[in-house]
Amino acid sequence: MTHIYNIAHRGAISLAPENTLAAFSRALDVGADGFELDVQLTKDGVPVVIHDETVNRTTNATGYIKDFSFHDLANLDAGSWFSNEFKYETIPSLKNVLETFCNESIIINIELKNDVFSYLGIEKKVVDLVEKFDILDKVIISSFNYCSLFYTKKINPHVKLGLLYDQNTKNNLFNKNFNFDTLHINKNSIKSEDENFNATKNKIIAWTVNSKTNMKELTNYDIYGIITDYPEILSQLQMYK
Ligand code: G3P
Ligand code: MG
Repeated sequence: MTHIYNIAHRGAISLAPENTLAAFSRALDVGADGFELDVQLTKDGVPVVIHDETVNRTTNATGYIKDFSFHDLANLDAGSWFSNEFKYETIPSLKNVLETFCNESIIINIELKNDVFSYLGIEKKVVDLVEKFDILDKVIISSFNYCSLFYTKKINPHVKLGLLYDQNTKNNLFNKNFNFDTLHINKNSIKSEDENFNATKNKIIAWTVNSKTNMKELTNYDIYGIITDYPEILSQLQMYK
């Protein structure tokens, strides 16, 4: 049986505040093979790691990411909402994350969060950083924005691309004209009886898989990976399998 990659969703988010350096470190500590993170652009065009389009839920401030300079954004408290223990965590730049983890043998799934705001130029900025740290082999760039992925491939044909897909996505998942490296499918959209599933399962990364039952079921198929909020549970299951 092939190893299914254990990918921590926004880091180990049950143990540390999501999309922070602490969450990514904890993920690796508990046995994840890597992590997924979300990227947007600040007002001055810096790629930063945060999920929501606003800072409201995960910091001590309010407002859109696109309206903050990087300097102001990086000074927010991005940890206290989770626990006082993390009060010094900040919203990292993508550069900061990549320089911290570029020497680890891991998967880094960079999700371009450009389905609400398009963040002009985000693809080139992200690819430039991946090239700068020489980690093309470790990185998968994914997005719900099909056009953005197409453009990313034009910037550098060697970048690994993952198509994000759920029931509401209009992307043609099995588009023969575009060679995605991985298919990132909402676990509720996975139908193991579907002939397309069997044909593509070694490219499938299922998200976001949090129950032990779903983890066990999916590890019976030879899919590529599982994105989970609980990498610590998945790594325990894999250890005793
Ligand atoms: O990449 C899988 C998953 O992260 C996509 O949804 O909203 O958590 O970024 P979301
Ligand atoms: Mg994401």
